[in-house]
Amino acid sequence: MTIDVFILTALRSAEGASVSGGEIAKKLGVTRAAVWARIRELRSLGYEIEASPHEGYRLLHTPDLLLADDLLARLGTGRIIGRDIRVFQETTSTNDIIERLAVDGVREGVVVLAESQSKGRGRLGREWMSPAGKGIWLSVLLRPKLLPHETTQLTIAASTSVARAIQSETGLAPEVKWPNDILLGNRKVSGILTELHAELDRVKYIILGLGIDVNQEETDFPVPMRSIATSLRIETKHSVNRSNLAVALLRELERDYSRICRGQFEAIANEWEALCSTLGRDVSVRVGERWVHGRAESLANDGALLLRTQHGHLEHITGGDVSLRK
Ligand code: BTN
Repeated sequence: MTIDVFILTALRSAEGASVSGGEIAKKLGVTRAAVWARIRELRSLGYEIEASPHEGYRLLHTPDLLLADDLLARLGTGRIIGRDIRVFQETTSTNDIIERLAVDGVREGVVVLAESQSKGRGRLGREWMSPAGKGIWLSVLLRPKLLPHETTQLTIAASTSVARAIQSETGLAPEVKWPNDILLGNRKVSGILTELHAELDRVKYIILGLGIDVNQEETDFPVPMRSIATSLRIETKHSVNRSNLAVALLRELERDYSRICRGQFEAIANEWEALCSTLGRDVSVRVGERWVHGRAESLANDGALLLRTQHGHLEHITGGDVSLRK
């Protein structure tokens, strides 16, 4: 644990009360001056910390900043997702960083966040706009014991995690659209890009990339996107603290990932179905060059979409782009 994680953990768990600098220094085995130097550094990042010679330090306000040590302090230990967190000011894509960590043999659960991405990518080769300080651009490395065809389970699990985190942090009621979109009032607020590295019958690793549009205003989106994209700020009419949302999201991901690892996908599928706006509706799905039309019936055990065609045949769709039919 770094000095900053220790200090932030102590200040946060005091819940607005003062914490003695001497106590912190003693527990860490460092001088009071070393603690004071870290407090000054945290202040320069925007943490409002009151320092009183008799009472110690008191946390008054935290900035809307993604700081690895603060996220680690808030999440605590004994977890897989977020056991190691790295934050970049700018990167090409957080999925690229995870890819390098995966090749280097880093343990699963490492999380990479970026304030902005210059080459953020979405599904089907699309660009993912990732402006600085406006959203959560985050990727996680996973090494699950799943078969390659079962990995859609992770996308489904991640979308229920995102929906629950948004719900708990904003009070909004998101809907999910198979396989990876989270919508608010029919406009997309979040997407998931799952990149699979596998052999024929073995998953080597998975990069789970999540993007949430948090604090964009309407004018931050290019005109053609305004009817299809939204942000939490647009929907709630106030800015949303990204650090709180990131913590909520990582907790939800931990919960769902451990359910998947214990073979409890069914429970997640039930939650997902309750959030889904597409089931029971007539949809068209583009699968590569092919179009499949039918009624979206339910989710299969591996996370695939079960579609009843007009000829009564049940199609098992493992990837594609769903649109509602008028
Ligand atoms: C989609 O809906 O098409 C998926 C969008 C996924 C965006 C996230 S942002 C963090 C991670 N890094 C990327 O380049 N993409 C994913």
